[in-house]
Amino acid sequence: MSEAMLERRLLVAGNWKMHGSKIFVQEMMAALQTELPAAMAYDVAVFPTYIHLYDVIQQKPAQLLCGAQNLSEHDDGAVTGEVSAAMLADLGCDMVLVGHSERRVMHRESNEEVALKFRQAIQHQLTPVLCVGESLVERQSGQAFDVVWAQINAVLGLVGMEQLAQGVLAYEPVWAIGTGETATAEQAQEVHQYIRSQLAAIDDTIARRIRILYGGSCKGSNAFELFSMPDVDGGLIGGASLTAQDFMAICHQADKLSQGV
Ligand code: 13P
Repeated sequence: MSEAMLERRLLVAGNWKMHGSKIFVQEMMAALQTELPAAMAYDVAVFPTYIHLYDVIQQKPAQLLCGAQNLSEHDDGAVTGEVSAAMLADLGCDMVLVGHSERRVMHRESNEEVALKFRQAIQHQLTPVLCVGESLVERQSGQAFDVVWAQINAVLGLVGMEQLAQGVLAYEPVWAIGTGETATAEQAQEVHQYIRSQLAAIDDTIARRIRILYGGSCKGSNAFELFSMPDVDGGLIGGASLTAQDFMAICHQADKLSQGV
């Protein structure tokens, strides 16, 4: 196992997106209660919809982390339909996704808004998972690195390196999300390495410590190869987080790697 991997625990994070029901939560939590080992050398988290957060927090195994998929960039107040960082922390959330590409595209979230959300999360002791990634057009026109760095740099500009380091990064190439088309392990590593080298130019210690997840059609059959890459520290999983069997298949790969198998 590389020195870098010893510094960074793998994280397997399931983004349920707009899926689930009360029964789904019950069944999934019962399955994870049985299947997740009590002591793990890696981290596992799920991100249900807002309305299922409470049930997950009540029913989850202690070692499972729980996060929201979004939060408001505002403090509490007259912001109809939004949920604040303080509310998520009060409910017992550990983490929160910020800047998922579906929110950037469908809800036109700008880099600046995403940065404000990241800061809200940090201010309320939630671990933000900052999602970044280029579209197919951007990749084909050679802009992948620039797009990803602009997304990270907007957050860095607002909160600085110390606070960025309190979060997790997730590289999710938009062309690989929900398409069944996974970035190859080499393609993922190339971008992860780029991100880490950019951060290292600012602070080498922090760059070596920060976790960078890969997301986009990650599943049990490709997780080992992806997570084996030196700069890939786990995965943000969409479709394959929706059954306990598929999700556990990915967790098993993280388990193997964490134990140096
Ligand atoms: P899929 O795993 O379904 O491609 O989704 C990835 C994702 O967007 C996770 O946030």
